[in-house]
Order: sequence, then structure tokens, then C-alpha cells
Amino acid sequence: MDFQLTEDQQMIQAAAREFAQNEIAPIAAEFDASGQFPARTIKKAGELGFMGVEVPAEYGGAGLDPVSYVLVIEEIAAADAAHSTIISVNNSLYCHGIVEFGTEDQRQRFVRPVASGEAIGCYGLTEPQSGSDAASMRTRAVRSADGSHYVINGKKSWITSGPVADYMFLFAVTDPESKSKGITAFIIDCRQPGFVRGKPEPKLGIRASATCEIEFVDYKVPAENRLGADGQGFAIAMTVLDSGRIGIAAQAVGIARAAYEASVDYARERKAFGSQIGSFQMIQQKIADMKCRLEAARLLTLRAAWNKARCKQSGERNTLAGSIAKLTASETAMFCAHAAVQIHGGMGYSKEMPIERYFRDAKITEIYEGTSEIQRMVIARAETGLR
Ligand code: CAA
Repeated sequence: MDFQLTEDQQMIQAAAREFAQNEIAPIAAEFDASGQFPARTIKKAGELGFMGVEVPAEYGGAGLDPVSYVLVIEEIAAADAAHSTIISVNNSLYCHGIVEFGTEDQRQRFVRPVASGEAIGCYGLTEPQSGSDAASMRTRAVRSADGSHYVINGKKSWITSGPVADYMFLFAVTDPESKSKGITAFIIDCRQPGFVRGKPEPKLGIRASATCEIEFVDYKVPAENRLGADGQGFAIAMTVLDSGRIGIAAQAVGIARAAYEASVDYARERKAFGSQIGSFQMIQQKIADMKCRLEAARLLTLRAAWNKARCKQSGERNTLAGSIAKLTASETAMFCAHAAVQIHGGMGYSKEMPIERYFRDAKITEIYEGTSEIQRMVIARAETGLR
């Protein structure tokens, strides 16, 4: 077992850290306050290869491995979680699935512009009445009599990057009788008629990551934009989430690290009762617990990424490692952000420091791409074989 990153992985980590600390961290508070989409820095992320880290170069990406991807996401998230949400959805939920399951023509047409950052991708699974129970979606795709296209009607909710996306990886019901086996995947051009964007949702955290509801009103999608076979969509959606959850784990590690590092600095600087607060046992306990959880979460995230590369070769599913990493890392982010606010006292509650933002941003990692309850269910089902 080798815990050392390769030279290439260290280089991409350093490049992501430089970009995140120099260009994202300084604007994070401003974009959090305004809730504006950070178009300029996202474009720059594309130029640096961060919008399609694992996408092969022939489809416009950086062609790197899954470990490099989680290193990039951790660095971006340590500067600003909202940027890492936009980048993670673009990479894992949009590009990854199309590279895995798309045809050569689909990869060229729909991955290339998104992996290079010229266009933005989003993922349409959740609906107003169907979140954790993804198979209960109602959005319908009905094939035309001549077979040339499908007509889509329905609503998708909580769509990350929905207000700005150019393409959506959509899941819709083609055969309502067949439940999860009656769902089909499509690639949607968001600029075509019938794709109706709702108002951006005001949110507790990751405020610069634009989110909205999307309504499909008699939207016509050409049959050649179907991804995989009719009825294969649910398995595709779940496989894509297996990867997406590793990205969210890396995001959570980034938030936890930012909260931890700020706390260590503050514990060294801040004095009370004649000493630096870091010399008090109650602060030391918090610092030690944060450090242990952070290291454990990072190692599980790196293991899940490493296992993803291994599974790519062997054809196995990488469900369990991703869920373990996501569950542990998201609860670590919440734990560290909570402890950071407490260590900073009044300053942790103030908008003058980023600590309260870490606290608000951490919460979403326990909710999206499968809640902590869903991760526990996936893990327990895998371990017991019971449902
Ligand atoms: N890989 C491949 N296939 C899978 C799979 C996986 N990880 N998980 C399930 N499947 C297959 C099963 O094998 C099964 O097929 P067979 O019948 O042929 O065996 C089929 O899919 C149905 O599986 P289940 O019976 O297990 O399905 P279920 O209805 O019980 O649901 C679930 C399983 C794990 C709860 C799933 O619904 C789930 O993950 N829910 C959470 C949804 C989620 O994460 N949503 C996030 C939205 S995206 C988002 O948040 C984006 C963002 O903004 C950042």
C-alpha cells in the first residue's frame, strides 16, 4: 500500500490550490452574499481543465484519474463550496455519465463543450415529489409515432446550475408500468423550446451555485439523444451517482479542512484568561477530534476514488466505497464547521469571517446526491444483503 500521491497528482493538486486560493477565496464572500453565479471563475476553471478532470482529452477534458479529481474538488471546496458544487456536477453528474454510457457521437457533441468549460451541464433526476425515492419520478417521455423523437412533460426540481445550464442529463419515465425499469436517460439541449427555467431558489448555503426548478412543456428531444436503451435510465442514474458521491465527499473534506485550518490559526492567536485558547483542554479536544475525523474522511475519499479507477478496469460497481466516503465526509464537514463556530465564538457567528459560511455550506453535503439516511441504507443493504 502506497499513501504517496504521484508527481502528476501533486502537480494538479498544487495547480488547483493556487487557482482556488488566489482567484476563488477572495471572491467567495461576495458571491455568497449576492447569490450571483460566478461565471468568470467558472470559465477560468474550464480553461484550467477543472470542468472535465477525468474526461479523456479527445472529448475536451484533462484526461486525469479519479484521485486527481478528488484532489481538485477538495482544493476548490476549501476556498468556496459553491464553486465546488458547480464544478462537481459538471464533472461527475454530467460529463462522467455521457462518457461512460454515450455513443461516440454523443460524447463529441455533448461532452466536449461542457468538459472544456465553454458550456455548463446539469443533471435532472429529482422531482418535487421524488427525492430519495428517485424511481418514483413522474416526468414522462413519450416516443413519437414515427420514432424520430420523444415528447417530454414534467417537472425537475433542485437542479444545480439549472438557471445557467446549456445541457441537461435527464431521466424520464418511458414505461410507467415497469417502475425503475421504465426510466430512460436523455441528453437535453436547454436552449430549445419547452425547457422552462424557474426562478433561482434562495438557499441556506452554497448560495453562488444557482439552483432552480425546470419544467418540460411538450419538449421534443431527438431519438438520437437517448442515452443507452429504453428502460436503462435508472441503473445509469445510480451508476452516475456512485461517482458523484465521491465528488461530494471530496467537497465535504474541503469544507472540513477550511474550518479546521481556520480553527487552528484562531486557537493559536486568540488569548483569554492570559493564555492562547489553544492551550485550554476543551479547545484541544475539539482540535484533536476535528483532525482525526478530517484525516479519516480524506482517506476514505481517496480510497473511494482509487477504487473507482480499479472498478473501471474490473467492471465492478463502486457503490459501497462511495457511500461510505460520502457519509463519513459530510458528517465530518458538519462536525468540523460546528466546532469551528464554537472555537471562534462571536467571530464564528459573524459575517466578518468565513466560518459561518462553512457552517451553512457544510449542511448540504448531508442532503444532496443521497441524504445520510440513504447512504446508511445503501451501506447496510450492501453489508447484509437484505432490503
Ligand atoms: N448501480 C447500478 N445499478 C443500481 C445501483 C447502482 N449503484 N443501485 C441500484 N441499481 C439497480 C438495482 O440493481 C436494481 O436493478 P435490478 O432490479 O435489475 O437488480 C434497480 O437499480 C433498482 O434498485 P433498487 O431496488 O435498489 O432501487 P430503490 O428504488 O430501492 O432505490 C436508492 C435505491 C439507493 C434508494 C436510490 O433511489 C437512491 O440512490 N436514492 C437517492 C437519490 C439521490 O441520490 N438523489 C440525488 C439527486 S442528484 C443531486 O443531488 C444533484 C445535485 O444537485 C448536486
